[in-house]
Amino acid sequence: MKTVEIYIAVRASEGRPRPVAPGGAPGVARFVCKTNPSEPSTMASVRLSSAQPAGTQSLAIAFSDGSEAVYSLMWLLDSCPEGFHPQTGERAFDLLSVPDALLLRCADILSDGRLELQWEHEGPASHFSADWLAAHRPGTPRADAAIVTHRYWRAADLPDGAPRHDARAILNDDAALMAWLVDTKKHGLTIVHDIEGKGEASMAIARRIGFLRETNFGQTFEVINKADPNNLAYTSLALALHTDLTNQETPPGYQFLHCITNDAEGGGSVFADGFAMAQVLRDSDPQAFETLARTRIPCRFFDRECDIRTHQPVITLDATGAIQEIRFNAHLVDIIDLPIASVDAWYRAYRAFMRLTRDPAFRLSFRMAAGEMTAFDNRRILHGREAFNPATGNRHLHGCYVDRVEYDSRMRMLDRT
Ligand code: OGA
Ligand code: ZN
Repeated sequence: MKTVEIYIAVRASEGRPRPVAPGGAPGVARFVCKTNPSEPSTMASVRLSSAQPAGTQSLAIAFSDGSEAVYSLMWLLDSCPEGFHPQTGERAFDLLSVPDALLLRCADILSDGRLELQWEHEGPASHFSADWLAAHRPGTPRADAAIVTHRYWRAADLPDGAPRHDARAILNDDAALMAWLVDTKKHGLTIVHDIEGKGEASMAIARRIGFLRETNFGQTFEVINKADPNNLAYTSLALALHTDLTNQETPPGYQFLHCITNDAEGGGSVFADGFAMAQVLRDSDPQAFETLARTRIPCRFFDRECDIRTHQPVITLDATGAIQEIRFNAHLVDIIDLPIASVDAWYRAYRAFMRLTRDPAFRLSFRMAAGEMTAFDNRRILHGREAFNPATGNRHLHGCYVDRVEYDSRMRMLDRT
């Protein structure tokens, strides 16, 4: 970040900065920013913006790199670092303690270089460093170490399989942990190898990231062939590609499946990038894509102890229209309750997406070995398995989840150190 120093300079004709009367003329107070006060050529101004909504004022700040930003006075008051608790960092400022129409009384540059704004309403002055103003130009999102560009993939893009990371390195080395988190977010899927020990060992790796997400299946779960299953995963049947717990208001973010034993016949794993498939649908059949993104459908899981339901779309987009989440689990789709006018269009779209999940070009198939763990974004990557024959041996996976927000928090904390 470029360091910009702000100091006040008033044109000779204006004298010292004087109070700006209510409704006062724009340009009365004038500030100058420059990277080096002894170099007048780098000067740029800070002035009252000429585009003032009636009864209000805003500040236009021209930075020494030639850019200019207009700051809303309400935003300045609400964002002023002094309005935040010094220890907790939470906002303590009460937005309704100031009038609707804000007016500046005067602005000054203090000897420490900070901009001071005094207000017509009763209340403390606000102070801003030039660096802070430069870093918080309106509309600038905060820098975020958790942002990783997704690399969409098909099977052919991963000729060596999913990227592999060493368990001991992840457990003992923060840089290795960060590298794994970045890779898992980028591709949506990685394999952790050489996990020593059974269930608790993989949980320790997941806990390196954050809290485990508890669900109705517990904080961790055993994927084994059970005598009295409440979930198809707990049988020896094949599982078509799916994401887990689409019936939850927010399905679990990252999923970890640690292979304890896999010596039965069958039981191979399959993964596919739901974002890549959704993008293909968007390009090839935009109407189907829109239908899946716009239509909320009912999803439900129920057993003897719970009945958890939600209505959500198969494809969720973020505010920019980017694909943010895939919810795809044919086993958990409840009886479709769409009106007759839209039901067939939805089935056409859903079947088009489902057909893509069967296309081998998207499917990465491999056999998990004991001591390996797949780590994947359950809201992006679809996973499944072949049927296995429990008469020929055992198959046992130990699973848990960590939500996306916890995951992102760990990335930011690792970046902070
Ligand atoms: C699950 C699941 C996959 C497998 O438990 O949700 O999809 O390989 N398991 O058994
Ligand atoms: Zn699953």
